[in-house]
Amino acid sequence: MTTPRHRHRRTDSRRMVAVVGGFAAAAIAVTLAIPAQAAGSTLQAAAKETGRYFGTAIAASRLNDGTYSGIANREFNMITAENEMKMDATEPNQNQFNYSSGDQIVNWARNNGKQVRGHALAWHSQQPGWMQNMSGTSLRNAMLNHVTQVATHYKGKIYAWDVVNEAFADGSSGARRDSNLQRTGNDWIEAAFRAARAADPGAKLCYNDYNTDNWSHAKTQGVYNMVRDFKSRGVPIDCVGFQAHFNSGNPVPSNYDTTLRNFANLGVDVQITELDIEGSGSSQAQQYQGVVQACLSVARCTGITVWGVRDSDSWRASGTPLLFDGSGNKKQAYTSVLNQLNSGGTPVPGETTGNPTQNPTGNPTSNPTTPPPTGGGSCTASYSEGQKWNDRFNGNVTIRANGNISSWTATVQLQNPQLISAVWGAQASWPAQRTMVVTGGALGSGQSTSFGFTVNHGGNWTWPSISCSAS
Ligand code: XIL
Repeated sequence: MTTPRHRHRRTDSRRMVAVVGGFAAAAIAVTLAIPAQAAGSTLQAAAKETGRYFGTAIAASRLNDGTYSGIANREFNMITAENEMKMDATEPNQNQFNYSSGDQIVNWARNNGKQVRGHALAWHSQQPGWMQNMSGTSLRNAMLNHVTQVATHYKGKIYAWDVVNEAFADGSSGARRDSNLQRTGNDWIEAAFRAARAADPGAKLCYNDYNTDNWSHAKTQGVYNMVRDFKSRGVPIDCVGFQAHFNSGNPVPSNYDTTLRNFANLGVDVQITELDIEGSGSSQAQQYQGVVQACLSVARCTGITVWGVRDSDSWRASGTPLLFDGSGNKKQAYTSVLNQLNSGGTPVPGETTGNPTQNPTGNPTSNPTTPPPTGGGSCTASYSEGQKWNDRFNGNVTIRANGNISSWTATVQLQNPQLISAVWGAQASWPAQRTMVVTGGALGSGQSTSFGFTVNHGGNWTWPSISCSAS
C-alpha cells in the first residue's frame, strides 16, 4: 500500500497517479489498518465519534425536573432553546430586551460543557405583539435592531444561529411566504444575515425551515435557489437547518441524503435541527435510522438535534415523536439511532442529483506495484483529478482487477481538514471521519470499475491516498 502525498496544481488537471496493488485476502485485516470504532454508549458520545453533535431542544421551565435534565445532560451535547430565544421572548416590548430564560438555558448548557444553537432571530411567527402590527421601514429597522441586539447579547456563546426561520411557502410555488417581514422587501433575509454576521462573526449563520427534506418538492428547490444565490453574491450564510418534523402524512423521504448532499455541495453545512417523527415501535425506529443514515452519508451534515427529550415534553406529545417515553425510558427509536451512529457511517447511493461532477480530463492509468498473490486476483486503484472549484475538487478512482476477484475494498484517506461531501458510483462507509471505505463485487481479470467523490478541501489540496485490496 502506498500513501501518495501529491499536491494539486490548480492549472494542471491532467496529472494523475497510480496507486497500490493487491493483497491476499488473509492480509487485508493487517494492511488496511482501519481505525477501530469505539462504540458510544450515549447519543452524544456516538455522534462525537463521527465528528458530529447530537442535540435536543430544552424548555427552561423543565430544567428542575431531575429526570428531564438528567437525560438531557447524559445524552446530548448541543442545546437549542425551544422558545426562550425567540423574538417574543427576548424583546417583549420594543427595545426592552429580556434574556432571563434564554440565559438560563445557555448557562445550563455551558455549565455542562455543551454548545448552543441559537433559535431564532427573525421569523414571521412568535413575534411580540408590537411587531405583528408593524410594517415597512419601521418593521425592517426593528427586525434588524432585534437581530443585532440579540446576537450581540449572546456573542461568543452560539455555535450556530437560525438567523431566519421558515421564510418559504408550502405547496408548489417554491416562493417566499407572505408575511409582514417579507412585505418589507425581498432582501429582508440577506439583511438579517448581514446584521447577524456583524454582531457575532464567530457564529455559523443558518437558514432554517421545514418541508424542505424532499429534494423534488418546490419548497426545497426554492430554498436551494436562495442559498445558491446567497453564496454566489457573498451573502454571509454558513449553514442550512432542516427542521425534520415528520409524521405519516409527511414521512422521511427516500431521497433525504440527496437533499442534504446537494445543499452541502453549495458550500454550506447542513444540520437536522428539530427532528421528531410521530409513530411508535419499529416503523418509527426505522425512520429515525433513515434520518441518521442520511446525515452520516454527508460529510457536511454536522449534527442532529431532536425537538425535545421525552414524548411528554414534545410540542406534539400525542404523536409520541421522540426518543424517550414519558417515563424517560429509551424507546426502540433511541436504540436504532444509537446503533446507526455507532455504525460510523452508511452506504451512500451512487448518484447525486445536481452534483457538479464532470468527467475528469484524461484517462486514469493503472500501475500495479504488487505481484498478484497466489490463490486469488489482486486489484489496483488509480486516482485521477476531476473538476476543481475554490472550495472543493472532484476525484475519480478506477479499480482494476489483476486476475479474477470476487470482491474488492478501496480505502480513501483524506487529509485534515478535508471532508467528502458527495460520492457517486459506489457503496461507501466511514470508519472514521476522513476515512472512506468503498466496496464492490466481482471483476474478471483485466476488468475495471470506477467511482468518484467531491472533497471540500478547506485549503488543503493534497490528493487523498487510495488503496485497494481484493479477495
Ligand atoms: C414550537 C415549540 O416547540 C412550541 O413549544 C411552541 O409552542 C411553538 O413552537 N418550528 C420551529 C420551532 O422552528 O420553533 C417550533 O417550536 C416548531 C416548529
